[in-house]
Amino acid sequence: MAGPAGTSHGYARPAHERSAVIDLEAIRHNVRRLAAAAEPAKVMAVVKADAYGHGAVPVARAALEAGASWLGVAHISEALALRAAGIEAPLLAWLHTPESNFGAAVAAGVDIGCSGWELEQIVAAAREQERPARVHLKVDTGLGRNGATVEVWDRLVGDAVEYQDQGLLRVVGIFSHLAVADEPERPETDDQLAAFREVLAIAEDAGVDPEVRHLANTPATLSRPDTHFDLVRAGLGIYGLSPFEGQTSAELGLRPAMTLRTVVSHCKDVHSGQGVSYGFNYHTAGESTLGLIPLGYADGVPRVATGGPVRVEGITYPVVGRIAMDQMVIDLGPLDVSRGGHSVLGAEAVLFGDGADGGPTADDWARAAGTNNYEIVTRISPRVPRTYINESPLSGAPGEKPATGATAPETPAP
Ligand SMILES: Cc1ncc(COP(=O)(O)O)c(C=O)c1O
Repeated sequence: MAGPAGTSHGYARPAHERSAVIDLEAIRHNVRRLAAAAEPAKVMAVVKADAYGHGAVPVARAALEAGASWLGVAHISEALALRAAGIEAPLLAWLHTPESNFGAAVAAGVDIGCSGWELEQIVAAAREQERPARVHLKVDTGLGRNGATVEVWDRLVGDAVEYQDQGLLRVVGIFSHLAVADEPERPETDDQLAAFREVLAIAEDAGVDPEVRHLANTPATLSRPDTHFDLVRAGLGIYGLSPFEGQTSAELGLRPAMTLRTVVSHCKDVHSGQGVSYGFNYHTAGESTLGLIPLGYADGVPRVATGGPVRVEGITYPVVGRIAMDQMVIDLGPLDVSRGGHSVLGAEAVLFGDGADGGPTADDWARAAGTNNYEIVTRISPRVPRTYINESPLSGAPGEKPATGATAPETPAP
């Protein structure tokens, strides 16, 4: 029976109040675009960090439908969540600690990135599970993070070959990660590529014949065919965002998949000189109307991003005053709401979307916050319900779904 708010459970649907709307057709389009750029190399869809905030399971399914053949995550726990959702595609996890559950990874057929120290733990897990581990050896060609240094590479390869001969593991892949591919004019990508070719030759001499050699991220997929090898690991581009300063998503043939929206939650006339939000960093210049936008830094909107754009009824307004935990303010100019003027209470407010209609984008918010577009979408918090549009018949019915860790319906109906 319908509840008091016309819903089956008696709660208002929180996604009507605020949501991150994920267009799964945009995800599929972007995967097809990246696959065409990568061809003949295959595409690994990088869905770590809950698919950069878009929702790992629905994005993984959409990416696989559109032609991605692999999935990539940072943590084994992220990989296990995908397996628990019934996703059986080849799946690599590459960032571990001595506490990581290598046994569960081997049991679930999750490929494990190995930079060196993990090898003994992976082999122990394979013995325990009585099943060979699937391993991708990682080399540090210059980024200075994970991966074996070139100096110790032969030893890692030698040890891996020994364990492979004993049937304890299979070297499925060899990989490295690029540091500056988003700045195509920089020479270091050439150095990393040369180092990668060298370590591949060493591995080959040692008798390793991996199924996949992989180096490229999104910017390299789009700008450096010589880095593609057998597989590209694409994250940002799948979400439709540009990795290049000065080149838009549209110029790259990509479609931003996330729209962050809410509704105006208060609209009132104020006198000239009205201070706005904590610290009074903004005062109205004349009689004006303020619109309250019920999203704040607890929802993942950066606190430092005053000036970030909010689109209401086709007009884009900058946020004025400090962004607070739950809310922010736009100055609408004099609407004379109290004298019967037009109120925008309840009107949709879009912080960012695909930008197709000239509306604001995640890139605009990145500029306002002094960060990159990766961080803007990834940090949208679990308090914001994710909703999905353009789901394919294969992935289930469209509708509202909580993101990983999302809160339960928040608003008891009146
Ligand atoms: C190892 C690795 N490969 C690939 C990617 C995907 O990079 P991008 O989002 O630039 O495509 C990441 C993300 O940071 C990564 O850590």
